[in-house]
Amino acid sequence: MGEAPSLSFDTRTFHWTDAKSKAITRPQDPYNYLQGFGNEHQSEFIPGALPIGQNSPQICPFGLYAEQVTGTSFAASRSHSMRNFLYRRRPACVHSTYEKIPDNPTIESSFLNPSKDLHSIPSQLSWSPFKIPAKEAAVIDFTKGIHTLGGSGQPNVREGIAYHIFAINSSMKNTAFVNTDGDFLIVAQEGHLDIFTELGHIYLQPSEICVIQQGLRFKVDIVEKHSPSGARGYIIETWGTKWELPELGPLGGFGLANPRDFLFPTADIDTSSSGPWKIVSKQEGRYYAISQDQTPFDVVAWHGNYIPYKYDLTKFVYHNTVSVDHTDPSINTVLTAKSRDLHAPLCDFLVFGPRWDVAQNTFRPPYFHRNCASEFLARIYGLEVAGGRSEVFAPGGASYEAGFTPHGNADQRTIGAMHVDLKPMRVGENQLTFMLESCRSLLFTNWALKDSGVLVAEDIPASTWDTVPDRFGENEEAIKFLKAMNRASTSLVM
Ligand SMILES: [Fe+2]
Repeated sequence: MGEAPSLSFDTRTFHWTDAKSKAITRPQDPYNYLQGFGNEHQSEFIPGALPIGQNSPQICPFGLYAEQVTGTSFAASRSHSMRNFLYRRRPACVHSTYEKIPDNPTIESSFLNPSKDLHSIPSQLSWSPFKIPAKEAAVIDFTKGIHTLGGSGQPNVREGIAYHIFAINSSMKNTAFVNTDGDFLIVAQEGHLDIFTELGHIYLQPSEICVIQQGLRFKVDIVEKHSPSGARGYIIETWGTKWELPELGPLGGFGLANPRDFLFPTADIDTSSSGPWKIVSKQEGRYYAISQDQTPFDVVAWHGNYIPYKYDLTKFVYHNTVSVDHTDPSINTVLTAKSRDLHAPLCDFLVFGPRWDVAQNTFRPPYFHRNCASEFLARIYGLEVAGGRSEVFAPGGASYEAGFTPHGNADQRTIGAMHVDLKPMRVGENQLTFMLESCRSLLFTNWALKDSGVLVAEDIPASTWDTVPDRFGENEEAIKFLKAMNRASTSLVM
């Protein structure tokens, strides 16, 4: 037998399977996971720590305390009910009184008050990479490094969404965070993160996303070895809804993001720290804190379905046309968060990675479009130029198009694509990009438009579109018809 080939996961990976890994995670990830979106899971750090056949024994195994956490109403339908039982050394209520602590001034959670300093955008915005703060200037951990770009709605009515970025240079020291407003979907873009949640560890690196649900405590540490410049990424915060897998319809039983590729942590406890601990709680975007002598990461066993999870976007199974035309971009949906309008999701999380384009007799660049949804794009890695008003700048930046902003590809490929010899070809190689489609028109913060310092004043000059010729006006047959109808006009003829 020859030597096993070394595993290769890098930005040239076309699909996860190219690395021929027998593991479900990348080599840097030291943790074990459970698999299966929507499953009931259970895990115990010590064998026998989970009670059998009941939730609340008179005395729990090993003297642990039972504690329930609900993510939905008690009487939610079975298909929507989310709840856990945790078995821990001390119940979470063992802590000091809440105290008000300084807010993170760059977090915004209310987009309903028109008197606030929030801004509507009629067309398009772009940002160069958001800056990761230098450690010499200030120690910025996850609680301080969140910056809101924009949003819609408000958490206290359980309606809406906020888009944030995070840029940090420090791990959280004896500090945990809990967001009582909503769920965080975290996209790693720069650096590696070790996220300790009450239900165990999630290791997160560029190409991976994770969801940490409302009310669960967690701690974000930077893995220094893989994060020489600190860490950066994106957070999509949703209020009053949960991320789901999209329906597959005629695709059948498998495809897109397959449920078994979603990974859930296994029970783990913190035995290395000594107190005291601080737990920073975000409520309505404001910060409060409690302190306690014991670690909040003392859950020895748990069972339920209200569990943080992660997913590697390079495992996505792309689908699209195999004859002519384009399938709408919703075919790239990884997760969807419903709104109360059944026909308009609060947010779809889409991925655009390497894939094949095989459509024949077809204009292959994205069709020109004006969508009712707003579009937010960000590149995780790779520098392939997308072109046009959907241009995405370097990894770590972003762009936004308000609903009904007309766009498409503006560069020369647009015209050239009408004349090329179409062959099956790989597109989107060496890069990974995500897009958020929302039925909401976002309002943007001063931080997004000014204080971040990376807003691009004019990314696509309006004159770019002058390169799109009026070919109808030059078409001899069309001119003949127009003349016959006495409708010829010099304004139509360039
Ligand atoms: Fe678009």
